[in-house]
Amino acid sequence: MRLDVVTIFPEYLEPLNVSLVGKARARGQLDVRVHDLRDWTHDRHHTVDDTPYGGGPGMVMKPEPWGEALDAIIDSGERERESEDGGEGAAEPVLVVPTPSGRPFTQELAVELSQKPWLIFTPARYEGIDRRVIEEYGDRLDVREVSIGDYVLAGGEAPVLVMVEAIARLLPGVLGNAESHRDDSFAPGAMADLLEGPVYTKPPEWRGRGVPEVLVSGHHGKIARWRRDQALVRTSQNRPDLIERCDPAALDKHDRETLESLGWSEGTDGRFGLAGEAVGE
Ligand code: ADE
Repeated sequence: MRLDVVTIFPEYLEPLNVSLVGKARARGQLDVRVHDLRDWTHDRHHTVDDTPYGGGPGMVMKPEPWGEALDAIIDSGERERESEDGGEGAAEPVLVVPTPSGRPFTQELAVELSQKPWLIFTPARYEGIDRRVIEEYGDRLDVREVSIGDYVLAGGEAPVLVMVEAIARLLPGVLGNAESHRDDSFAPGAMADLLEGPVYTKPPEWRGRGVPEVLVSGHHGKIARWRRDQALVRTSQNRPDLIERCDPAALDKHDRETLESLGWSEGTDGRFGLAGEAVGE
């Protein structure tokens, strides 16, 4: 997978040289290219921002440097592909624009983006990028405006680090154990929409604290059931909204009993609500 990042703070992306993403790069599984947006300015001060039309606080990122940068990067991809396989099917990049006004970044979106051959990230500073840039590339490419959460950061670089890590660990061969993300919280599948429960390792006793008996029992069925109950407990405590949204078909009889014991009650439609609150509406 190829990843391009255009930023006015290339050094902010240094963590992409470390750990999982750094190793994936070193192994050639990820081709990461970080570009300085100011390379596409032409004035003495390398200006990338200007005052907003209509007034208001802050500055807006000028469209021209972004346009030149993105054209150059997209062209470079087309040229590279032509020289590689005789011009057949130049892969199209997906443009990922981090912004607090975007759609939420979820595990589902991470999975979708991990299947693309090429992503270009455009982390902005100031009040964001002139809207015409998003419109211009939206006419030609798949453009995703994405928010990593309901808070406002000073720029999109940290969101890029977050998204790249979530995406890179899903690439084939990047995580050591191919099974490792099967049970991730939010992973589609068996534990869908439940948070992962607690984990333990050696020693069997630490500061007087033991390990839950069931985990050393060797009884795989009981262990799976215990983990599922713990996932329900943690989800109930930390993300009751996920329990409320849970597809009734994803819950077995034991799940229902566990939820009842945690104070949830089943509505007529099989969905759960906290006792005392209206359910099934
Ligand atoms: N830029 C600033 N805040 C952001 C957020 N929450 N998500 C994505 N990009 C951002």
